[in-house]
Amino acid sequence: MKAFELADIMKRFGATKALNGASFSCNNGEIHGLIGENGAGKSTMVKIVSGVYKPDSGSIKIRGQEVSLRNPWQAVKQGIVVVHQELSLVPDLTVAENLFLPKPPLKKIKLNAQSDIEKKAAGFFADIGLKGIHPDEHVGSLTLRSKQVLEIAKAIYRQPKIMILDEPTSALSIEEVNWLSGIIRRLREEGLTVVYISHRLGEIKEFCDRFTILRNGKEVGTYRTDEIEDDEVIRLMIGRSLAATFPAKLTENKERSPAIEVQNLKSESGLSGIDLTLYRQEVLGIAGLEGQGQRALFRCLFGIERLSKGKIFINGKPVRIRHPRDAIHAHIGLTTGLVPEDRKTEGLFLDLSIGHNVTLPILNNFTKLGWINNNDERIKIKGILKKVNVDLAVIDLFANSLSGGNQQKVVIAKWMLAACNNMLMYDPTRGVDVGTKFEIYNLIRDMATEGNSVLIYSSELPELVNLCDRVLALYDGKVVNAFQGNEITEEALLSAIMGINQI
Ligand SMILES: Nc1ncnc2c1ncn2[C@@H]1O[C@H](COP(=O)(O)OP(=O)(O)OP(=O)(O)O)[C@@H](O)[C@H]1O
Ligand SMILES: [Mg+2]
Repeated sequence: MKAFELADIMKRFGATKALNGASFSCNNGEIHGLIGENGAGKSTMVKIVSGVYKPDSGSIKIRGQEVSLRNPWQAVKQGIVVVHQELSLVPDLTVAENLFLPKPPLKKIKLNAQSDIEKKAAGFFADIGLKGIHPDEHVGSLTLRSKQVLEIAKAIYRQPKIMILDEPTSALSIEEVNWLSGIIRRLREEGLTVVYISHRLGEIKEFCDRFTILRNGKEVGTYRTDEIEDDEVIRLMIGRSLAATFPAKLTENKERSPAIEVQNLKSESGLSGIDLTLYRQEVLGIAGLEGQGQRALFRCLFGIERLSKGKIFINGKPVRIRHPRDAIHAHIGLTTGLVPEDRKTEGLFLDLSIGHNVTLPILNNFTKLGWINNNDERIKIKGILKKVNVDLAVIDLFANSLSGGNQQKVVIAKWMLAACNNMLMYDPTRGVDVGTKFEIYNLIRDMATEGNSVLIYSSELPELVNLCDRVLALYDGKVVNAFQGNEITEEALLSAIMGINQI
């Protein structure tokens, strides 16, 4: 029997046809991947199966019965639970309280009811094999990755019949991805149906029995994971074949001058003495399992976090970076993740237009006697959005109406336009589709070739291996290993970031 069947679904937002007659169905008890470019309609499809949006037309059947889902509760009643791309936890509550939302499992009449809730949460985490998450912690202080894990745990707790995961692993580390793959397989044995959305083809092939490709709001086809090659999948996804080759690395072996030098950088957030030199024209990679200090390093260099000790030199001169303003003044830019924890300094202003978001750091360039020269501004915006593959029709829309991956591209566009000499890129291609990923790699290499320097952290090892001239491995807040040229391999990086074979 089919777990659910969507047929001929249309969904418009203003002039955008997010879904244009799309059909999608899943068998009971299968793990089914859903893939496609940024903006293809994946999240919209998920929101239709889960009652968040009502389709303009088309039909929805759940276990053979035609239904009309007027709100998310009706979907939950049918056993459909979603982990959305945007997180939905309540920061002021604890992990345990969030887990049991909307209603706690125990009435709070007993004095120790709070700790009972925590005990129950701890028992549940043990049941599903989840480690390192503490029921009494406040959600507001969790890392993005722990929040993502908690969202998944919360979905499992509701014992769904159909569980939909919209890019659940974009911030997860290798260990947690393994945990997730184990638990969804176990639950599948008990009859659970899973829909799995990811831009990582490797994961789709490993996790899923079958997958469906969406393009421009319509399904292209459904395939068994063992019957189709990656090249073909990419071709179907983006409508053309893609030379998935990385740009050439630095070749000439001449002396380059240092752009940024960091000496003995320490911070309360976990840096325990980092030394590094980033040269001009270089793409320098940072590898590390989650929580080894990479986030603190980028935040310190951009002035979001304070150093407790250490020195930073730019072009050989000592600088103090106490605020993002100081960083921008020193020609440093930062592009970071899709769901930044501190949107004001790291990401986008969601209720400002996309165009304005892009020119925000450099608005002064377009201002004469206090007036903004709109024409100039628009020409610049259009040029850069085209480079990162964002549809030009969206310039005047609010940033929050863009799909997740497209928001990420706008963040990248913004800093590219600011022409920072020193680019800090924190997992820049998270949530970005494969076609655009390669265009971003080319843009990164071009920036370096033009004389700038790029420091990039990535959670995807192939990206570091193929893009970077050198890679530093972080472990426990320190650089433990450095690799260059042919030494940069996935195996070498993996053992270094796990703390094996340290120098
Ligand atoms: N609330 C909204 N208002 C306006 N347009 C929207 C809204 N939600 C989605 N869209 C548009 O619908 C299209 C499909 O978006 P959707 O979020 O479903 O893409 P996606 O496949 O999930 O992409 P990604 O991989 O980037 O997450 C996009 O063009 C997007 O800009
Ligand atoms: Mg999406």
